[in-house]
Amino acid sequence: MTAPAARTQAETETLLEVNNIEVIYNHVILVLKGVSLSVPRGGIVALLGGNGAGKTTTLKAISNLLKSERGEVTKGQILYRGERVQGLDPSDLVRRGVIQVMEGRHCFEHLTIEENLLTGAYTRRDREIAQDLEKVYSYFPRLKERRRSQAGYTSGGEQQMCAIGRALMSRPETILLDEPSMGLAPQLVEEIFGIVSDLNEKEGVTFLLAEQNTSVALRHAHHGYILETGRVVMEGPAAELRENPDVKEFYLGISEKGRKSFREVRSYRRRKRWLA
Ligand SMILES: Nc1ncnc2c1ncn2[C@@H]1O[C@H](COP(=O)(O)OP(=O)(O)OP(=O)(O)O)[C@@H](O)[C@H]1O
Ligand SMILES: [Mg+2]
Repeated sequence: MTAPAARTQAETETLLEVNNIEVIYNHVILVLKGVSLSVPRGGIVALLGGNGAGKTTTLKAISNLLKSERGEVTKGQILYRGERVQGLDPSDLVRRGVIQVMEGRHCFEHLTIEENLLTGAYTRRDREIAQDLEKVYSYFPRLKERRRSQAGYTSGGEQQMCAIGRALMSRPETILLDEPSMGLAPQLVEEIFGIVSDLNEKEGVTFLLAEQNTSVALRHAHHGYILETGRVVMEGPAAELRENPDVKEFYLGISEKGRKSFREVRSYRRRKRWLA
């Protein structure tokens, strides 16, 4: 897979816009402290950061899945195609073209792979479902081989493919993809990210993906945001982030000075270096 062509965000229409959102869990725990980001049509945008940085919370705020976790957006705005989408039912958002693939895959274990894929088309009323199923199988030939297997007995990689395939069955314009690399061997991670790039280039699917695996995410994304304890501390075109000395040192593990952890450098120094 070749590296994605560099695109500037200004060139294309903004599909998704998150403006300065704050999220609080259980009425007291402030987790997102003013996060802003934008996703252009046809882009792959990576939301990066370590454990607990707020990546999943950001995706759930967009797809309106916070309520079941007693979370709430208390400030800011979320716009999709210029319209406010806060407070919409998640299935309304699916009808508008936005779907989330949850962290940890969440396939229905007792259904077959094919039954899982078909559940993804539940909001549709058209007659092209069988055709789209074949299209999903063309991107994920392994799923075709395992179509009659119970999802609970398939491998982690197959379940991740099944979760992405099921999202595709809703004919999404935008997929919010949470931690696709989680728990998978490096070769499978490459395979899945390769398919994400293909879906973006050939089908025009827009992606906002949350990842701890900075290296693979920045090779496939066009633009990246780095979150730390609920704030965006850095953003830029993926190619620039890949070459940034701080990203190299703290997120890609390429250190000239032998430091391995981001936390080993005091935050004021990092901020000074980033703002310089
Ligand atoms: N339901 C919840 N109730 C209270 N706090 C929560 C809840 N969900 C997440 N948090 C807290 O919010 C912060 C951000 O969590 P989040 O899951 O968004 O991080 P993340 O960047 O996705 O991390 P990871 O890479 O580990 O998935 C963490 O401190 C977490 O403990
Ligand atoms: Mg997460």
